[in-house]
Parts: sequence; C-alpha cells; structure tokens
Amino acid sequence: MSLVDHDISPQDRDDRRRRSYPKGYGLTFPIADYRPWDIDPEFLALFEAIRSNTKLDVYRAYSLYTLGRQTQKTSGAVLEVGAWRGGSAAILAAVAQPSTVYVADTWKGVVKAGPRDDYYKGGEHADADIGTVKQLFNAVNLTNYQLLPGVFPEESGHAVPSEETFSLVHIDVDVYLSARDATEWVWPRVVTGGTIVYDDFGFYGCEGVTAYVHELMQDPRMRVFPNLNGQAVAIKLR
Ligand SMILES: C[S@@+](CC[C@H](N)C(=O)[O-])C[C@H]1O[C@@H](n2cnc3c(N)ncnc32)[C@H](O)[C@@H]1O
Repeated sequence: MSLVDHDISPQDRDDRRRRSYPKGYGLTFPIADYRPWDIDPEFLALFEAIRSNTKLDVYRAYSLYTLGRQTQKTSGAVLEVGAWRGGSAAILAAVAQPSTVYVADTWKGVVKAGPRDDYYKGGEHADADIGTVKQLFNAVNLTNYQLLPGVFPEESGHAVPSEETFSLVHIDVDVYLSARDATEWVWPRVVTGGTIVYDDFGFYGCEGVTAYVHELMQDPRMRVFPNLNGQAVAIKLR
C-alpha cells in the first residue's frame, strides 16, 4: 500500500485549493512527519476493510482507533451517533472488544439542521442504509454491536439499557442540534474520565458543530482539546 494512498484524493485537494474561504478558514499544512499508521498492520488492514464505508480520512480514523484501544482504562460501552455506512463504528467495535458499541443513525440522512448551520439543510448523507452496516460488520467479523435506527436520542435512545454507561462516544452528526442533543442525552451516562469525540469540528460547512464545541470549552465539567484535524476531544472531569 502506498504512503499517499491514505491522504485525501487529488480531486478533493484541488476542490479545496480552489475554494475561497472566509476569514478564520483556509487550508492548513501542519509541520508534522509522524505517520504511525504506516507501521501498524492491524490498523492498515482495518482501514482498508472499512475505507469505502467511511467519510473519515486516515488522520481522524487513526485518532479514533487510538482512543478506542484505550477504552478499557475506564468502564463502559461505546456509542457512535452518526454512522452512515458504518466505517468509523466498525473501527470502534474492532478495537473496543468485548465492549458493546451502540451504533445510531437515522439512515435517512441528516436531521435537525437549523439556524446555527450554514451549509446543512437536512437530508444530506441519505445514501446509506442499515443493511450496508450489517454487511460491513459481518465482513470484518464483528458481533459486539447494537444498531439504533431513528433520530437519536428521541427515537432510539430508549433501546439502550437504562443502566448502561459509556467510556467512549463518537458524535459525527454534522449539525448543532444533533450534536447538542446527543451530548445532553449521553453526558449523565459517561463515566468520569470517559471521552467524547466530536467529528466535524472546524470543518468549513460544519459551523454549528464548531460553535457547539466552543460552548463546551466553557463547561467546567469537561476538558476539551481542539484537535485541528477535524475532530475535538472532550474528557469528562466530573
Ligand atoms: C457524516 S455522516 C457519518 C459518517 C460516519 N461516521 C463515517 O464513518 O463516515 C453523518 C450521519 O449523521 C446522521 N445523523 C445526523 N443527525 C442524527 C441524529 N440526530 N440521529 C441519528 N443520526 C443522525 C446522518 O444520517 C448521517 O448518516
């Protein structure tokens, strides 16, 4: 596998170069030259198996994989809200075994887009279905998962046993209200030291999620790290 195979596609790169960004946005090229995934055969095999089922690039996928491998440091299950075709959920299920991974999606696309969201209007990413997720989990031999179809948390949160707690949560929902509602539902169930990863943080077009994460930075119950790869990571202090 070539080293460049894992980076964004040439077309995606060109599209971004042509974009005219507002103030506060623009392509960034961090001066970093550490590529631990290239020498991690377990990750490479997993990423290859799921890459057509995910929108995550290798950087975010590897961050999630690394955090997933540390879930045993705290007790509890794993939750992903916003699974689309199941790629990132499969990474979590593979590395967090034997913990259960709850996998939530409408499988009808983005919901709850509102005034905080500049780009999303609702219905985006509807090109995924629950059958595709089941097929992927079968293909990579994973059974430690439970699917939660419907708008989360209103239509599917009830299917999570009331005594369940969470060690790691991945919220990848594109818009402000879905990120907020998922966080407020899961927060009392996250163990101290548990971690919530917010995908979309800082992405041009995901201003609602970025704004929500900035609100969380003021919350004394958590420490929030703005990882500048398109994710933010919140750790529960109390
Ligand atoms: C960018 S996709 C997720 C990508 C996926 N994590 C991956 O591996 O590439 C965002 C998903 O969030 C889902 N979504 C947004 N708000 C939701 C909500 N409140 N409840 C359930 N699913 C939601 C959409 O249906 C969509 O499939």
